[in-house]
Amino acid sequence: MTVRVALLPGDGVGPEVIAEARRVVDALGLPLAWTELPWGSAWYHEHGAMMPDDALDVLGGHDAVLMGAIGDPSVPDDVSLWGSILHIRQQLDLWANVRPARLLDGIPCPLAGRGPADVDMLFVRENTEGEYAGVGGRAHRGLTSEVALETSVFTRGAVERVVRHAFALAEARRGVLTSATKSNASRYGYVLWDEVVEEAAADHPGVRVERVLVDALAARMVRDPASLDVVVASNLFADILTDLAAALQGGMGMAASANVAPGGTVPGLFEPVHGSAPDIAGEGVANPSGAIWSAALMLEHLGETDAAAAVMRALEEVCRDGPRTRDVGGTSSTQAVGDAVVARLSGRR
Ligand code: NAI
Ligand code: MG
Repeated sequence: MTVRVALLPGDGVGPEVIAEARRVVDALGLPLAWTELPWGSAWYHEHGAMMPDDALDVLGGHDAVLMGAIGDPSVPDDVSLWGSILHIRQQLDLWANVRPARLLDGIPCPLAGRGPADVDMLFVRENTEGEYAGVGGRAHRGLTSEVALETSVFTRGAVERVVRHAFALAEARRGVLTSATKSNASRYGYVLWDEVVEEAAADHPGVRVERVLVDALAARMVRDPASLDVVVASNLFADILTDLAAALQGGMGMAASANVAPGGTVPGLFEPVHGSAPDIAGEGVANPSGAIWSAALMLEHLGETDAAAAVMRALEEVCRDGPRTRDVGGTSSTQAVGDAVVARLSGRR
């Protein structure tokens, strides 16, 4: 059976890193067919929307989606994000955003004296509601009484499914789950979140759970990252914490993510954590590691466990031995890194 993968390179460095991820997957020789979708900011300028009306049906007709990043200085970021990735996550109900934050051998860590043994975390981000529910409004525009409301939405069902998934992931790792909220200052949504965590904990006696306030967790990620295993947090909190986590694993170019609905039938969407990086787009220097790692997460999700492991092995060898892009201390191009991963996969050196 041929696996159908929708490829959404997007804007900026998106197409540059996705080209390498695609070549790496192609080198495996799996029965896999790509559908390349030209959606993004250029599409917006031509059609007045980031994606066509039937975009969700098109994506839903595939087994997985591999995406670069969407966003361009010529389109307001709230328009491009809500017209693409946020819309897709919500409407396909891809409720868990799973982001490994592991420092690979050979990649410089910004923390003095820390190495790969210290940075191995897995973030689980609620992906459909919370602070990014899209609920709110504005009134009295331009007046001194102008008001803007951004309402956080927490539902028991959405919190419970993501928390329970995080427990299951912790059970399969080192057995520690850290839940990050801010239930001292915010008294409703995060308090419900804490209660759901307590209830789920009763069903997972093998997991040690800790409730940490998100601000304290940010400091602890820097001071003692080795104390963290799986971290579960709301849409906004995990968004912020995973940029910090990406920095700890060598930078935005290293971080990968899986948007999934575990147990469901919708295709997962796999994408590097970084955005379209307009500051370096077109230079051929973007780090493709996060995109290649995301492709490995995709293969794993599709049940291609051996292929996923082979990609990770090849990526880890290249990170250890080079070539590397300049964001991780090297001087090589995006394509040179992709070439090296493909060569390792093909058993050539
Ligand atoms: P960004 O992640 O694009 O860039 C932040 C910094 O990281 C920049 O200095 C950039 O050069 C660097 N960087 C990012 N990816 C890199 C890579 N592969 N290799 C080396 N360095 C890399 O975040 P920023 O600047 O806040 O956003 C740029 C645009 O991307 C905006 O339009 C934003 O809305 C969009 N965006 C889209 C996302 C998505 O499609 N999922 C996610 C995040 C941002
Ligand atoms: Mg982010």
